[in-house]
Amino acid sequence: MEIRRAVVDDAAEIARVHTLTWQAAYEHVFGADRLASIDVGRREAGWARVIADGEAVYVAVEAGRILAFVSTGPARDQAGLGELYTIYALPEAWGSGAGPALMSVAKRQLLADGWTEAILWVVEGNPRARRFYEREGWSADGGRKQEAFLGVDVVEVRYRIRLV
Ligand SMILES: CC(C)(COP(=O)(O)OP(=O)(O)OC[C@H]1O[C@@H](n2cnc3c(N)ncnc32)[C@H](O)[C@@H]1OP(=O)(O)O)[C@@H](O)C(=O)NCCC(=O)NCCS
Repeated sequence: MEIRRAVVDDAAEIARVHTLTWQAAYEHVFGADRLASIDVGRREAGWARVIADGEAVYVAVEAGRILAFVSTGPARDQAGLGELYTIYALPEAWGSGAGPALMSVAKRQLLADGWTEAILWVVEGNPRARRFYEREGWSADGGRKQEAFLGVDVVEVRYRIRLV
């Protein structure tokens, strides 16, 4: 498995991994019908834009296929902190080491960008991801917010990590 920085040409494959992973991981949250309605083309355009804008996006590649990706940057709703924006692995790559490898790269990138502390937001009812973050040294800090995705109100909880 190779980890490398994403380029704009990866946007379609990243959008595919993003969508398939939502469909596999969030059926209990959104229902299969809403997940089937995700507009992959719109997600592709979004990924192409953020990669072109220089957002730190890394992909895990095996046999020429993207299996997982991660993205980081400044925290969107708090000054002075970094944020892990997304980390997604295709179900076939769960437990393969792709998630932990991308998490290491993300922490290194956040540090290189000058952050000593970072946050992430995770769907409250996503126990697999929460266990993964806790294994990786993140802890829930009590922050909560409600956001609408695919027309469903979802509670997200905030996790935090000290990077140094
Ligand atoms: C979060 C994520 C990136 C972690 O990557 P990973 O490679 O799965 O990380 P790990 O190898 O440390 O953890 C593997 C987990 O999947 C489980 N697992 C391993 N192989 C599996 C398989 N074939 N099918 C189902 N689960 C499997 C492991 O038991 C472990 O779960 P546990 O905590 O319940 O024991 C990945 O699980 C993922 O993309 N999940 C769906 C999307 C998501 O929730 N992203 C976070 C959004 S905030």
